[in-house]
Amino acid sequence: MKNRYPFPIPFGWFCVGHPEDFPVGEPRPLYYWEQHLVAWRDVEGTVHVQDAFCPHLGAHLGHGGSVDGCELVCPFHGWKFDAEGTNTDIPYSERVNRKARLRTYPAMERNGVVLVWYHPDGEAPMWDIPEVPELADHPDWSTVIRTEYVIDASVQEMAENAVDAAHFRYVHNTATVPELEEYTTGFPEAIMRSSQKFPTPRGVMEGHIDTHAWGPGVSQVNFSGIVDTINYAVTTPIEADRCIVRFNFRFKTMGDEKTTRNVGRAFVAEVDKQVREDQPIWEHKAHLVRPALADNDGPFMKFRKWAAQFYAEPVADDRLVYPPPFWPDRVDDAPAKATASARYMNEAPPAES
Ligand code: FES
Ligand SMILES: [Fe+2]
Repeated sequence: MKNRYPFPIPFGWFCVGHPEDFPVGEPRPLYYWEQHLVAWRDVEGTVHVQDAFCPHLGAHLGHGGSVDGCELVCPFHGWKFDAEGTNTDIPYSERVNRKARLRTYPAMERNGVVLVWYHPDGEAPMWDIPEVPELADHPDWSTVIRTEYVIDASVQEMAENAVDAAHFRYVHNTATVPELEEYTTGFPEAIMRSSQKFPTPRGVMEGHIDTHAWGPGVSQVNFSGIVDTINYAVTTPIEADRCIVRFNFRFKTMGDEKTTRNVGRAFVAEVDKQVREDQPIWEHKAHLVRPALADNDGPFMKFRKWAAQFYAEPVADDRLVYPPPFWPDRVDDAPAKATASARYMNEAPPAES
């Protein structure tokens, strides 16, 4: 089978949901980076993410499993595992099974999301994710508004959109293309600053977009101009060619809560429109190893060099064109792939006034 992309699933911190998705004592099934997983919160409030299948006889711990104190209990024969994945009890046996271990992923709650460190070889986290005070309950910032989308494209292909200045005009009909002022890349960070004119009902306004990424999965986008906005944008690979994008918007309070939320809602609707415009392009495009670029195209190759740092396996170089899976030899995949679509989440309830 041909690969859709020359690169594998990247490593990094990735969002697996929001804190309220994981109530104490209720293990939940997850599926990310082509792995079945279980997430559970112990009675002390800590979230854990582990491989889903019990090493005894393979039960899925996220379907019917339970939590006893700080241990996860298998629904099939009652074996218990602790937060490190060690088997701590077999109810019908004197001895535990020391070889029976659950792979455990480093997990933390930060900035309103649950983040898990994924590395295909089980390497320990290589960087931290800083706390953003505005994303906690901050008096000057609104409650969060969230959207999320399942997209049939790789994390890298989606993220490349940010350096693609020209597409804003042609895909999103913005008044002008954003002007890049700075693009600095390192490991794991990438910082991009640009200015852009936004169409508003009251005319075109000049704004700034500053994006700060920590690896492939976590980025913070600060918009200023119409309204000061933070979008904590987190992308998680589901498979090598499918990902979920979660946006968490907060708006700097403007006078009263109602005005802030109305402007905020309009802003979220505009970003939502843009994702829907991008989605068919991302899902049907080929990945070109050597794109034919124009002078003002934005720092594509610098972006790709940055993104390549997060692959544990080498990026393939056997072909120059990686088409999507709708190609004739995989035409049977088309209906299944076409079912993935954007989902617009409900707003969080407005803050009490
Ligand atoms: S399969 Fe989990 S205890 Fe038997
Ligand atoms: Fe876009």
